Amino acid sequence: MIASSLISAATGASLLFFASSASASSEAAFVQFENLGYSGEYYPVGKVEALSDGNCSCEQAMDSPIYINGTNSPFNEELSVHIRGPINLQKFAFYTAESYSFGSTDGSWTRGAYYDVSNGTADNVTFLGNVGVENTCLARALNYVTSNGTSLASESTVLENVTIGSAEEFAIFSGTKCKDESSLEGDCLVYREGIDAYHGFYGTVKAFLFQFSAPSDTSEEGRTNKTGNYDMPAIWLLNAQIPRTSQYPLNGSCSAWNTGAGEFDIFEVMNYTQRNNFYTTIHDYQGTDSVEVGLQMFAYLDRTPDAVMKGGVIFGSDGKATVFLSNSTTFGNTISSSDLSSWLSELDNVDGGEYTQTLSSITLDMNTATTTSGSGSSASTSGSDSSTSGSGSDSSTSSSSTNAASRPMFSIESPVGLLSLAVPLIAGTVFL
Ligand SMILES: *[C@@H]1O[C@H](CO)[C@@H](O)[C@H](O)[C@H]1NC(C)=O
Ligand SMILES: *[C@@H]1O[C@H](CO)[C@@H](O)[C@H](O)[C@H]1NC(C)=O
Ligand SMILES: *[C@@H]1O[C@H](CO)[C@@H](O)[C@H](O)[C@H]1NC(C)=O
Ligand SMILES: *[C@@H]1O[C@H](CO)[C@@H](O)[C@H](O)[C@H]1NC(C)=O
Ligand SMILES: *[C@@H]1O[C@H](CO)[C@@H](O)[C@H](O)[C@H]1NC(C)=O
Ligand SMILES: *[C@@H]1O[C@H](CO)[C@@H](O)[C@H](O)[C@H]1NC(C)=O
Ligand SMILES: *[C@@H]1O[C@H](CO)[C@@H](O)[C@H](O)[C@H]1NC(C)=O
Ligand SMILES: *[C@@H]1O[C@H](CO)[C@@H](O)[C@H](O)[C@H]1NC(C)=O
Ligand SMILES: *[C@@H]1O[C@H](CO)[C@@H](O)[C@H](O)[C@H]1NC(C)=O
Ligand SMILES: *[C@@H]1O[C@H](CO)[C@@H](O)[C@H](O)[C@H]1NC(C)=O
Repeated sequence: MIASSLISAATGASLLFFASSASASSEAAFVQFENLGYSGEYYPVGKVEALSDGNCSCEQAMDSPIYINGTNSPFNEELSVHIRGPINLQKFAFYTAESYSFGSTDGSWTRGAYYDVSNGTADNVTFLGNVGVENTCLARALNYVTSNGTSLASESTVLENVTIGSAEEFAIFSGTKCKDESSLEGDCLVYREGIDAYHGFYGTVKAFLFQFSAPSDTSEEGRTNKTGNYDMPAIWLLNAQIPRTSQYPLNGSCSAWNTGAGEFDIFEVMNYTQRNNFYTTIHDYQGTDSVEVGLQMFAYLDRTPDAVMKGGVIFGSDGKATVFLSNSTTFGNTISSSDLSSWLSELDNVDGGEYTQTLSSITLDMNTATTTSGSGSSASTSGSDSSTSGSGSDSSTSSSSTNAASRPMFSIESPVGLLSLAVPLIAGTVFL
C-alpha cells in the first residue's frame, strides 16, 4: 500500500515492464524476508502546516536525520497498523518477545495490545482514520473514528462488528497518547495540528496477528468498477510518524515516507485481476533505490473471501520477517515460541510451502555514502512444490516519479539521496 495516491500512476510504467517480462508468481503458505534491517538514515518532517485554499507548507528536517541500524530497522521503530476494505476485523493482537529466531522453541511472547470484536475488548488499542479536517495538500487529518470505522468521532471509540467497504480504511495505534507537543524534540516528533496523536507499537522483536474476513465486494459498483481499490483488501504497517503528519500528501515533504521511514505491507491485494492474492512488500531503501516500487515478495498468500483468515507477521531477532496465514493462530495473553514455530512448520507442507527472499546488506557510510552491495535482492524458494524461482525484486525504477520529484534536493552528505541519484537504475535480479 503505497503511501501516496500519486505514486501508483508514477510507477505504472515500471509495473507494466514487469508484467511483460516476469513469469507468473506462485502461491505460498508463508513468505519470509531474511536479513531485514540496514544502516542508513531518513528525514523526519520538520514542519507540516495546512494553509488556506488547500495549500500546505512542509519541510523535511534535513539537518536532523534519524539514523537507523540493526535488526529489522527501520521496522524496529514504532509502527501503526492500517486496514483497507473489504475487511471485517475480528481480532487484532500485538506481541513482543525478548528474542525469537525462526523455528525456535525457547521462550514466549507477551501480548501488549488486543482487540476482540466478540466482547468489545480493546486493550492498548486506539482506532483512528483519515477522517478529520480536509486540506487538499495534506488530505484529511488523522482522528478518532466512529464504531463503524469510517466517520469522525469526538472520542476514542471501539469498533463494532463492521465490514468496511472497498477502499475504506482505518488505522490502529496503541493506547499511549503523544505526551509532547509537535516538535522535533518531542516524543512523537513533528505532527499535524488537530490530529489525535498516539504512539504506534514499539519493539525490535514483535508480532502483529489478525483474525479477519475479506469478503468479495459484490456490490453493483464493485461489479462495474474494477479500479480505485475496488475489492482490494489490505493490512499493512507504517512508521507511525507517517500518518501523524500525512499519509496521502500531495507534497512528499509532508511525510518521512519517501526518505525511507518504512512501510511493510503484510497482506495486500495489488489489483483486481489478482484480487485473491495477498502480496507482501517492503518500502524502504534496503536493496532498492526506489521506495515507491519497494521490494515485493514474488510468491503470494491466498485470500479466501468465503473463509475467516488468521495470521500476521513476525519480526524475529534473527532479522527474519515471516508473513503467514494459519488456522492454528491463537491470541492468548502469551504464546510460547514453540507454538508459534509449530504454526509455521505445519505450513511447510501446505500449498506452496515457504518462500524466502534474502535482502541485500546495504551499509551506508555516512560520509562517503558507499554501498557494499548494490544488488536488488536474491530470491530462493524452499518447501514442497515450489520449483519456480521468483523475480527477486521489482528492480526497475522510475526516476522521475511524482514522489521522487517532490523530494527535497539532497545535500552531498545525504546517503539516501546519493544512493538514488548515483544509482538511478539498480540492476535487480530477475529470475525468469
Ligand atoms: C497485479 O499485481 C501483481 C503483483 O504486483 C502483478 O504481478 C501483476 O502483474 C498485476 N496485474 C495487473 C493486471 O496489473
Ligand atoms: C494555493 O495557493 C495558490 C496561490 O495563493 C492558489 O492559486 C491556489 O489555488 C491554492 N490552492 C491549491 C490547492 O493549490
Ligand atoms: C543506531 O540507531 C539508534 C536508534 O535505533 C540510534 O540512536 C543510533 O544513533 C544509531 N547508531 C548509528 C551508528 O547510526
Ligand atoms: C459479525 O457480523 C457477521 C455478519 O456480518 C456475523 O457473521 C458474525 O457472527 C458477527 N460476529 C460477531 C462476533 O458478532
Ligand atoms: C474477551 O474474549 C477473549 C477471548 O476471545 C478473552 O481473552 C478476554 O478475556 C475477554 N475479555 C472480556 C473483557 O471478557
Ligand atoms: C458510520 O457512522 C456514522 C456516524 O454514526 C454515520 O454518519 C455514517 O453514515 C456511517 N457510515 C457508514 C458507511 O455506515
Ligand atoms: C501499549 O503499547 C505501547 C507500544 O508498544 C507500549 O509502549 C505500552 O507500554 C503499551 N501499554 C500497555 C498498557 O501495555
Ligand atoms: C471507480 O473508481 C474511481 C476511483 O475511485 C472513481 O473515480 C470512479 O468514479 C469510479 N467509477 C464508478 C463507476 O463508480
Ligand atoms: C480456516 O478455518 C475456516 C473456518 O473458520 C475454514 O473455513 C477454512 O477453510 C480454514 N482454512 C484453512 C486453510 O484450513
Ligand atoms: C513541496 O513543498 C516544498 C516545501 O514547501 C516545496 O519547496 C516544493 O516545491 C513542493 N513540491 C511540490 C511538488 O509541490
